Amino acid sequence: MTETFQFKLLATDGKARRGEVSMPRGTIRTPAFMPVGTVGTVKAMYLDQVRELGADIILGNTYHLMLRPGAERVARLGGLHNFIRWERPILTDSGGFQVMSLSSLRKLNEQGVTFKSHVDGALYHMSPERSIEIQGLLDSDIQMQLDECVALPAEPGEIERAMEMSIRWAERCKVAFGDQPGKAMFGIVQGGDIPKLRERSALALKELDLKGYAVGGLAVGEPQEVMLDMLDVTCPVLPAEKPRYLMGVGTPDDILKSVAHGIDMFDCVMPTRSGRHGLAFTRYGRINLRNARHAEDMRPLDEQSSCPATRDYSRAYLHHLIRSNESLGGMLLSWNNLAYYQELMAGIRKAIEEGRYADFMAETQEGWQRGDL
Ligand code: GUN
Repeated sequence: MTETFQFKLLATDGKARRGEVSMPRGTIRTPAFMPVGTVGTVKAMYLDQVRELGADIILGNTYHLMLRPGAERVARLGGLHNFIRWERPILTDSGGFQVMSLSSLRKLNEQGVTFKSHVDGALYHMSPERSIEIQGLLDSDIQMQLDECVALPAEPGEIERAMEMSIRWAERCKVAFGDQPGKAMFGIVQGGDIPKLRERSALALKELDLKGYAVGGLAVGEPQEVMLDMLDVTCPVLPAEKPRYLMGVGTPDDILKSVAHGIDMFDCVMPTRSGRHGLAFTRYGRINLRNARHAEDMRPLDEQSSCPATRDYSRAYLHHLIRSNESLGGMLLSWNNLAYYQELMAGIRKAIEEGRYADFMAETQEGWQRGDL
């Protein structure tokens, strides 16, 4: 383990990268999938289970935790790791994105964002400096700059304004973060679906010499092809020796392809959220357990899996649990889905090391298409 935040590239295959982020709380094997623990819990999962599946880092949300239980309270309770019982690295999103999607009465200007809490209706103000302060109170290991993410489609002028302001906010966040060798503050590339704006954003953030870079403002309503095109213009501008994180992405297919475009880190609520809604991700593609065709199917989701949820429970029982709105249904499917996502990431890392990423992609996609019936 290291005293300082470091990123090492261990192997490349085309644009795909196999690396390692080391920091005092642990090492993150990349490409990495970070399970989302919005309010300090990866929903319907024990954190021991999450670790056992192979997660090296989880995500927390500034927005949710500042509202409840409150950043100062978490600090008094010994920090987020101590509070939730996860000793390894935690990455926190800065709050801007969640404000825009969850709160009402938002007002955003150069100073920051004012919003009404979705919990109790109280009014809050968050500046770039306050976002970093909160992430510090949470004792987050990888902190994100405050940014403005515009939903697509949007007017080019609006995309440009938000992108330029996000650059200025990155500078302010860098100053607020200061010198913390064991931790990192990542910048977030914005610029919507406009290649020139993406380049401008990536270049300006690169000049700030941050410890890592995220690509934001994607998977917000645009087709997958547009997202991959934006990665193609952004990644070559970003420094090769720093980690790259694609925020809020995505499906197993999005992840497989984005790795081939040079991305190292991902987070998404999809495995846990869709699990609670009855959707299972498997080697054979997606299986919707709500569907009546599973009612008398005695087979497990995948008898070859090492995950008990995947291997030991019949589809008939999972169908029954989901149809009955039983919590165990969401627990078992979240477990299955996170197991599948982590198994996919392990396969991705191994394939890059062995220089056969293109073949691995083709085989994996073939499995999804083949199905199991
Ligand atoms: N999560 C998904 N997309 C984004 C984004 O553009 N910005 C932030 N802060 N979080 C995100």
